[in-house]
Amino acid sequence: MLTAYEAMTAELLEACGVDFILVGDSVGTVLLGYPSVTEVTMDEMIHHAKAARRGAKKAWVVGDLPYKGRNKGPRHALESAKRFVEEAGCDAVKVEWGKDTPLITDLLVKHRIPVMGHTGLTPQTAKEQGGLKVQGRDAASAVRIFREARFFEERGVFSVLLECVPVPVAKAITGTLVVPTIGIGAGPHCDGQVLVFQDLAGLFKKFTPRFVKRYVDLEPLVKRAVQGYVRDVKAGRFPEPKHGFSMEKEEEARFHRWASKR
Ligand code: KIV
Repeated sequence: MLTAYEAMTAELLEACGVDFILVGDSVGTVLLGYPSVTEVTMDEMIHHAKAARRGAKKAWVVGDLPYKGRNKGPRHALESAKRFVEEAGCDAVKVEWGKDTPLITDLLVKHRIPVMGHTGLTPQTAKEQGGLKVQGRDAASAVRIFREARFFEERGVFSVLLECVPVPVAKAITGTLVVPTIGIGAGPHCDGQVLVFQDLAGLFKKFTPRFVKRYVDLEPLVKRAVQGYVRDVKAGRFPEPKHGFSMEKEEEARFHRWASKR
């Protein structure tokens, strides 16, 4: 699983064998310039989910229920989840652990909306968790995360995402649940893995969590390309004759005759 926020990336990821495309609320900090994911609106999520859906034909597209799509209670969450499915064509909705999550999960499952639960570090309520930090390092909080994961399964989710939890905790949860776990910063024992595409590609560097593996560093390549373009345009080296379009000689002459009379 990887994140994609638009058609071009979704199409590329699907062609590379990615099974699940997550339209994460991380779009807020990665693409939209917000200081926190809690700023992202439901309309923005739908705009990006629709675009990702256009690009991904077969992969499951999972819409991430944002804070502003659920903060008014379970009915609000249901309306938002329906928008992901009906307006944007998403296959499923991801729900972070937080206020009203049990009621929200029940309501969505009752309405036959496939739900991916999300526990461990939950960025929408990171302030209450002491910031963007690993969760479950002490036994009591590990038990809490374990219970939340099991709760999600009991309520009928098809998968549980574990973010930033110690390896032994993720391993125990994965070994207990029947539904697959998807890990991010949760070690190698999860059934699947997820990363933010821009982290993997070296395109987002405001902060790089320890769990990220940067498979390619595109930023310097893109910078070099854009600097080259700027230099060429300023020096008159771009565009070259091969980048232009010509006219039939006769049409050109007729056009010049018309232009000279102006
Ligand atoms: O919003 C997101 O991209 C996520 C992943 C980090 C799991 O929730």
